[in-house]
Parts: sequence; structure tokens; C-alpha cells
Amino acid sequence: MKTAVGTLYGVSVGTGDPELITVKGQRLLQQIPVIAFPQGVNGKQGLAQKIIAPWITPQQKKLHLYFPYLQDEKQLKKAWQEASETVWQYLHQGMDVAFACEGDISFYSTFTYLAQTLSKNYPQVTIKTIPGVSSPMATASVLGLPLTLRSQNLAIIPALYNVAELDQVLSWADVIVLLKVSSVYTQVWQKLDSLDLLDHAFIVERATQAEEKVYQNLRDHPTLDLSYFSVMIIYLKHD
Ligand SMILES: C[S@@+](CC[C@H](N)C(=O)[O-])C[C@H]1O[C@@H](n2cnc3c(N)ncnc32)[C@H](O)[C@@H]1O
Repeated sequence: MKTAVGTLYGVSVGTGDPELITVKGQRLLQQIPVIAFPQGVNGKQGLAQKIIAPWITPQQKKLHLYFPYLQDEKQLKKAWQEASETVWQYLHQGMDVAFACEGDISFYSTFTYLAQTLSKNYPQVTIKTIPGVSSPMATASVLGLPLTLRSQNLAIIPALYNVAELDQVLSWADVIVLLKVSSVYTQVWQKLDSLDLLDHAFIVERATQAEEKVYQNLRDHPTLDLSYFSVMIIYLKHD
């Protein structure tokens, strides 16, 4: 008899606090025999792996998948191919695999590339995703502020390669969320200073994690050595 192929579940595990997972995500992580997650940098534990530690057991098989932090398309594709082959080894034996994703699985996640590569190579695989708590929502929650109100326009910028891009967004958005702000912080600070907007901007570093830090008075911080896991929210209009 031919074995049915397993399902790949993309499970959102939230931004840091393990309790920010959904009931469904937690159940799947506890039931599924094979758990995958992005491998940490320099041999350290990755964030998703750290978040799910309370929910998994030593008996479950762990797949540390390598996703490099670089722009080179060729190397990225190679990594996605290798990761999809690793996952396929289990799926084709009829075992389900749960991939743990920090934040929400549909929001700038490497899971998407893994899923696309797997679907292309093995169209018979079923892929399901479980949504979750994402960094803009976690950041607003830590700040104790609503992310948006009424008819406010929200802009989410995944990475600013040129701070001049902010001018365009400032022309229409009421609330701006900057992900990956750590690499351009000084330039953003200067731009906000020139527009007298420093009192409208807040940063949360490692939201909902043990090392969480909030920066409210940005006037006092023209430079900051921020973690990659930092979000800035700029509230332009207060309704
Ligand atoms: C590749 S994106 C992944 C987003 C993630 N899937 C989510 O739903 O939030 C990485 C960026 O998300 C933001 N981020 C993710 N987790 C965070 C956290 N716990 N605290 C602050 N920022 C976070 C940072 O701006 C980081 O540079």
C-alpha cells in the first residue's frame, strides 16, 4: 500500500512570549512528530526554537533549517532547495512536519520560500498555515497604544534602503511601522528630527521577550545600538 504524504504546517508562534501562540498552533506543535525551525546564527538557538521550547519534547525530531541572511538570489535558492529536501524526507514517509515561525507566518517569513519551493518540487504536498501575533501588533501592545484608529492609514515598511522613501510615505500615512529599523536608525532619527517628529516616534526592541526594551524619548537618542528585532512606530495623527 502506498503511504500518504504528510502535511507541512506553518505555525506562527508569536513574537517572543511563548503564551502568544494560538491554541491551534500549540496543539499542532505538541502533536506533530517532526518540528522544523530556522537555525540560529553562530550556533546559537534561533528565536522560533526558543519560543516553542515549553511546548515541545525531546522525543520530537527537530530540523534546524539553514536560511542565510543575505541578498544573493542564487545562494538563497540553494538554501530553500536544501531545506525543502530536508522536510520532504519526512513528508514522503507520511509524517507531518510543523515549521515554527517567529511572529506571523504570512508576514515577511522565510516559510513562504520554503513552501513555494516544496510545492514546485512536490505538488502533491498539502501545506497549511496557522496565523499568529505579529511584531507591529506586539509593539503597539507593549507601548499600550492602539496601532490604528478610525480611518487612519497604516503603512508598514519592511526595510528602508533609502530614507528618502519615508518622505513619500509621510505624505499619505497616519501611522508608520518600520521593521528592520536597526540598520537605518541614525538616518531615520535625523529625518524625524528635521520634521520635528521625534516626539511622535517610539521603538520597541525584542517586544514580548525577556530582554524587551522601550524607547519613548527619542530626542535623547540620536544613535542607538538596536537589536535586529526592533520596530519603530511613528504616529503622525492622534485621533
Ligand atoms: C523578517 S521580519 C519577520 C516578521 C515576523 N514574521 C512578524 O510577524 O513580526 C523581521 C523584523 O520583524 C520585526 N520583529 C520581529 N519580531 C520582533 C520582536 N519581538 N520585537 C520587535 N521587532 C520584531 C523586526 O523589525 C525585524 O527586523
